[in-house]
Parts: sequence; structure tokens; C-alpha cells
Amino acid sequence: MTRHFLSLFDWSPEELRAMLERAAKLKAARGKPTRGRLPLAGKTVALIFEKASTRTRVSFEVGVQELGGHPMFISAKDSQLGRGEPIRDTARVFSRYVHMIMLRTFAQETLEELARYATVPVINGLSDKLHPCQVMADLQTIIEHKGPRLEDHTIAWVGDGNNMANTWIEAAAQFGFRLRVACPPAFQPDAAVLAEARRRGGRIELFDRPERAVEGADAVNTDVWASMGQETEAERRRQAFAGFTVDDALMARANPGAIFLHCLPAHRGEEVTDAVIEGPASRVWDEAENRLHAQKAIMERLLRTAD
Ligand code: CP
Ligand code: NVA
Repeated sequence: MTRHFLSLFDWSPEELRAMLERAAKLKAARGKPTRGRLPLAGKTVALIFEKASTRTRVSFEVGVQELGGHPMFISAKDSQLGRGEPIRDTARVFSRYVHMIMLRTFAQETLEELARYATVPVINGLSDKLHPCQVMADLQTIIEHKGPRLEDHTIAWVGDGNNMANTWIEAAAQFGFRLRVACPPAFQPDAAVLAEARRRGGRIELFDRPERAVEGADAVNTDVWASMGQETEAERRRQAFAGFTVDDALMARANPGAIFLHCLPAHRGEEVTDAVIEGPASRVWDEAENRLHAQKAIMERLLRTAD
């Protein structure tokens, strides 16, 4: 049966773990000679973007090509999608041409409708609600720097209760680590995601202040205060997020040796200081690199469901 990668809840904890293990192997094997047919040989992956991207576009294009396939970049606004062609029609047409579809979209519903009508696997390349490819790369980074027993780790989220925060909440349920979250009152994570993660046994605690959330943390995460599509709210958000900047003083409250993660792009001086992102705790470049490896593992796994 064709499966999709829209949310970390689409896969079992064991399946997600296996993808991370495969991602580590793909990272170690990169650039070495390969034997046999590559998994995407003769296949095309459509990469559809309604929003801007640097990492997602480049890491998917390179990843598809390294798996032997052809990546096809499609800007939604330059296709008939931009002129109002329904996503369900696009899904059925694309399924006749390509072997997998990645979509970056404003609305999770668009992604879900695409997946409902597509007969090929669909990957969430970021929606307003979730960014699962990014969190898989982040977990790979945490394993590299803090060890593989994720259930022993404590991870902090500081800032907006946005698509990244929601995905971290899903990840807490699926991987068993403790998650400590601090968001301003009006910018809390999705209540339904939180309830479902807790129902699945997720150990997630919410705090008012970032200082409390980072206590005992092995990794401190943040993201922009105004996500794509929220540009007009940027000034209001800057005021609401006062005190939520990840700076050296905040990092000093986390566990000794705690690492700093940010999905990027970052706004230095807002959610993180230049000193932290450029400092010794920062693992943001490894994190960006791991998008490539994690997504290759995800695509390989999806192909096994598609034939
Ligand atoms: N982190 C991330 O998804 O980056 P891009 O917006 O550049 O793709
Ligand atoms: N929360 C950010 C993540 C960008 C990769 C956004 O949605 O714009």
C-alpha cells in the first residue's frame, strides 16, 4: 500500500528509528562507490513549492539525484496550481508522470488532499502545521552529538509554538525523549497535536519562561518568531517574544555540553544571538547537512511501499 510522510504520526516508532539508522549509514557511505541499481533509477520526484526554500529544495534535489533519480522543481505559482487548478486534480495528473511528490505548502489540508488523491507517495516538505523532514534531520544530529538513546535525552523548545514546535511534540511521543516547551501565551503549539502526543505517552511539559524550559536540557531548539506567511505580524511578534531570545545566559542554564539547534534560516538578534549560533554549542550546519541524509532514508523507505 502506498504510504506518505506527512507527519511523524504516519509511521511507527520502530519504522522512524529504522529510517534514522539508515540515514546514518547513508551519511557514512556518501561518495563511496555503490553496487547495483540505485533505488530511484529511472524515477522522477516532483518537488512542489508554494513557499521559498533553500535547504529543502537543494537537499531534495541532491538527494534524489544521489539515489539515481530525477528531481523536478516546480514553483506552484508558475504552474496551473498558481492559477487555481485544484490540488486533487494536480495529484491525479502528477501520479501519472512521477514516482513521488514532495510539497511545501501553506496549509496542511492541501498536503492531506494531495495525499488522498495521489497514487504515489507524498512527502511533507513543510506546512503551516508540521515540518517532519526537518525534525528527522534534527534527531539524527542529536544522536550524533549526544548518543543514540533518545529516551534518555531532554530537549527544550523555546519560542513560537509553530510547525517545528508541533513536530517536536510529535517526535517526543514517537522517540520517548523528554520535551520541555516555552512559548509566549498567545503562541502555544497546536492543542490537538499536544493531546495526541500525550495520549501516545509523550513526556511533554509546558513552561511560561524559557529559563525553566532549558533546565536539564541536552539540546536547545528555537526557530523564527514569524514563519513564512506571517510576515505582516513580524513587529507584533517581536514584542510578544521579548525575553525568548536564546543567548549565552540561557544556554548556560541548560546541561553542560548542551547543543543548540535551529532549522534555519535564522534571524540573529531575534530568536538567537549571533554568539550562540556561531558559538561552540551550535550544531546548525550538521543539522542542515542531515536534511540530505534523513530525506534519502525517508525516500528509500517510501519507495518500498509504492511498488
Ligand atoms: N529548514 C528549512 O526547511 O529550510 P528552507 O526553508 O531553506 O528549506
Ligand atoms: N517555522 C519556519 C520554518 C522554516 C524552515 C517557517 O515555517 O517559515
